[in-house]
Amino acid sequence: MISLKINSREHLLDVEPDMPLLWVLREEAQLRGTKFGCGIGMCGACTVHVDGQAVRSCSYPVSAAAGKSIETIESLGTIDAPHAVQKAWIEHQVPQCGYCQSGMQMAAVALLNDNPQPNDQDIDKAMTNLCRCGTYDRIREAIKSAAREIS
Ligand code: FES
Ligand code: FES
Repeated sequence: MISLKINSREHLLDVEPDMPLLWVLREEAQLRGTKFGCGIGMCGACTVHVDGQAVRSCSYPVSAAAGKSIETIESLGTIDAPHAVQKAWIEHQVPQCGYCQSGMQMAAVALLNDNPQPNDQDIDKAMTNLCRCGTYDRIREAIKSAAREIS
């Protein structure tokens, strides 16, 4: 049994220690906002936070998350009270198909937590997630808007 704290709730789960955190979140905790893309740590669709750091959950064994605080897109905001990043995403109409966007938002929040006023270079360096729809320019502008709102 592995004890996990996910979005401030304790879970006691009977899973193999090397199971990727992504599948624990999606299949055991029923949190389906975190997406499967490549499965090899390249695309970032599966990005969540572990102790505040962005990690690619498809390549992160659940045993490494035991005793740590895991946050998923479901914890970020609500329709009535969206996170500053989500407000900026709406303002800039960022998503196209939307598949990559929960991972993008989690990566953006981790960036802003580390660096509340990122410049273009900081954003390009931190935002290594892939978007097949090519929403990168809107993501960059939305992150700058969120940074203004947070400051
Ligand atoms: S699904 Fe995890 S990085 Fe692509
Ligand atoms: S919005 Fe379609 S993959 Fe990013």
